[in-house]
Amino acid sequence: MSKKVLITRIIPAIANELLTQAGFEVSVWEGTGAMTRAELIERARQADALISLGANKIDTHFFSACGHLDIIAQFAVGYDNIDVDEATKRGIPIGNTPDVLSDATADVAFGLMIVVSRKMFYLHNTIAKGEWKQFEPLKNLGIELYGKTLGIFGMGRIGSVMAQRCKGAYNMKIIYNNRNRNEAAEKRLGAQWVSFDELLQQSDVLSVHSVLSAETRGLFDKNAYAKMKRSAIFINTSRGGVHNEQDLIEALQTQTIWGAGLDVTNPEPMQSTNPLLSMPNVAVLPHIGSATVEARNGMARLAAENIIEFYKSGNVPYCVNPEVLKRSKHE
Ligand code: DGY
Repeated sequence: MSKKVLITRIIPAIANELLTQAGFEVSVWEGTGAMTRAELIERARQADALISLGANKIDTHFFSACGHLDIIAQFAVGYDNIDVDEATKRGIPIGNTPDVLSDATADVAFGLMIVVSRKMFYLHNTIAKGEWKQFEPLKNLGIELYGKTLGIFGMGRIGSVMAQRCKGAYNMKIIYNNRNRNEAAEKRLGAQWVSFDELLQQSDVLSVHSVLSAETRGLFDKNAYAKMKRSAIFINTSRGGVHNEQDLIEALQTQTIWGAGLDVTNPEPMQSTNPLLSMPNVAVLPHIGSATVEARNGMARLAAENIIEFYKSGNVPYCVNPEVLKRSKHE
């Protein structure tokens, strides 16, 4: 009997096509928004495997109802919506989709850095409001990036691409903080590992590319901003939970730091009344890091391949808890 895969949101068709060609029975949640908790559990009960999205809360409550699942393939590189420890306890592999979205996400971080350094979104809006009167010799001044220091928090795949972009375009000095040393980035980009405090103190642009975890939640708070340069730009394209948004607002209002570019907010979606949206040195985007045709197709393909390969060989090409594969209940 063919295995049943539930896809919890409409994603690029390639996922459905690959799974169907491989003999799976695929059902897709076709609602306009994310499934509610109850809908997710009800539909997942009838499936063997799941392609999940960040909006699906896959926690102990979910697992107690759907612990029968063979595999969960997340349509994202981030998986902070999933209780991986619980999945591991139950022998359920969790797949994700790295690499294919690194260029797209690094482009958003790089773009935000430029947009903030020259107040571009804010100035665009002043024109739309009819406020552009004349050339201003002493107004609308931004800051230049050439030769400045880029601090990367989380030198993984996306952080490395951002560092490469900044090195190539602006010959920026690269420093980074990461749990493990990234020797490839050190060799290729001359990147230098520094402590977290040194990262805060030395960065002209500090770009966050870490996962959201117990260690990183709320890490960029008022204490962190207070250690940064007054001229610093803070960029976050990873998860909004890594920064404390109220503290960030205060740090910008009190000119503790110079500017901020966010592709992720805390919470999401950001309310339209958020003071960040009317600050000159701030740019905010609605979590579009991976939103290119190429990246999203790649993510859909990898999510499907994680499932297909699992049933074929017991291997999951991109698995965040590979330790379960050795003792999979389906070996
Ligand atoms: C990811 O892949 O983690 C992106 O943030 C999309 O959710």
